[in-house]
Amino acid sequence: LPRPFQVPLPVPPMLAPGRHPDFPGADFFEIRQLVTRQEILPGVPTEIWGYNGTFPGPTLTSRSGVRTVVRHHNNLNVPTVTHLHGGHTPPGSDGFPTDLLYPQTHPGLPMNAMPGMATMGKPDPQAHTTTGKRDYHYPMTQRAATLWYHDHRMNFTAQSVYRGLAGFHLVHDAEEARIPLPDADRDIPLMIADRSFAADGSLLYPALDPTTLTTPGTTDPYMGGVLGDVILVNGAPWPVLDVAAVRYRFRLLNASNARRYQLTLSPPPADGTAFIQIGSDGGLLANPVHHTTIDIAPAERFDVVIDFSRYTTGQEITLTNQLGSETTARVMRFRVARREADGSNVPDQLSTMEHIPVSQAQQTRSFSFQNHDRRTWTINSKEFDPTHPIATPRLDATEIWRFTTDLHHSIHLHLVQFQVIARNGKPPGAYDAGWKDTIDLKPAEEAAIIARFTDYPGRYVMHCHNLEHEDMAMMTTFTVT
Ligand code: C2O
Ligand code: CU
Repeated sequence: LPRPFQVPLPVPPMLAPGRHPDFPGADFFEIRQLVTRQEILPGVPTEIWGYNGTFPGPTLTSRSGVRTVVRHHNNLNVPTVTHLHGGHTPPGSDGFPTDLLYPQTHPGLPMNAMPGMATMGKPDPQAHTTTGKRDYHYPMTQRAATLWYHDHRMNFTAQSVYRGLAGFHLVHDAEEARIPLPDADRDIPLMIADRSFAADGSLLYPALDPTTLTTPGTTDPYMGGVLGDVILVNGAPWPVLDVAAVRYRFRLLNASNARRYQLTLSPPPADGTAFIQIGSDGGLLANPVHHTTIDIAPAERFDVVIDFSRYTTGQEITLTNQLGSETTARVMRFRVARREADGSNVPDQLSTMEHIPVSQAQQTRSFSFQNHDRRTWTINSKEFDPTHPIATPRLDATEIWRFTTDLHHSIHLHLVQFQVIARNGKPPGAYDAGWKDTIDLKPAEEAAIIARFTDYPGRYVMHCHNLEHEDMAMMTTFTVT
């Protein structure tokens, strides 16, 4: 294992939007999904699957209300599906797990990986598959937020994301631009993901089928989730970032397959507030929330400000993980390198955030998340079935969804941003503020959320974002009618 805090924090490359004659008025991006080698551990190349050949993939930016088209080319040797996590996206572009994009050339792809077939070998007549390239259309009628995109192929998401298919997609809007938050090179996305490496530098994943073509999931001892012993931030092991003694905005994303973190700063600042949370999965909060620690489950985002003016020049501050042990107890380090002027500020009023009144709910539905026979994971005792929706909310309906669980699960809904209204019958907790698309459900907990199913009829999924749980069937179809 490399020594921690030696590698400078990489910041994923930003891709500038272009134009395309077929999509007038839209911001157009083009991405190639490639097998490449990247130096993740110092001095050792690691084979990865990367959007444009990098892990993380390039950061895309969109403007609220401006249509974005992302053209993906599949130059890998497996089918892929790209999902914009947190996007309010029409069904045809949402990355439904059987809407496969096949590589242009796919010699030797077995029959049950051929177009029109779900990867389990069961046909999904509604699947819309393409070969070579696929255009994903994002209307972006949504608020400024930290979204991310990642692979979502049925039964193989965990393996594909583990190999590197994940990147940021930021949305900006006028409301956010009016606030003097830290910006430019003081606005940094941090993708936190754990991985394990073999001695030759290759990524170690306990798959049943290392070609990721036919056998879904992972080996039984790992069905609870694959954990790595190396913590990567933006694809670098325990990196270090030189900062000025000013405020920085960090967009924290837990892109790990299964690991949860409890983040804090060591040493803590004198006033105790390590993080000023300004945003959640779905964008800016109404008002900032102060945290000494942040619990972050797979797929959640916490948009935070850290004020380094509370430290002295030369001081080193470690971002630690209180749920980790030994190598996983540390995440990255900040080094206060210089003093600089700071024109930023975190106002008490960040955004206007509508609260959905519980009285508006037309329907309440219940979902239980459970292990089944210690072989698969189920929702309401069912394994994922793309063709049979478990719920059919009406277009524009407001609904309350109640969740119960046996173990720890990170529940994600496509299409909507929701609000947490209760945990164990009590008001939501400190980490539940704002619009969310993922809720961390603790063992034996009961939670309720409220959401509006607007704009796009069609089929979507809800699933656990522990990616091994997801691949081992903890996913369900809901159809907006
Ligand atoms: Cu981040 Cu359905 O996924
Ligand atoms: Cu789970």
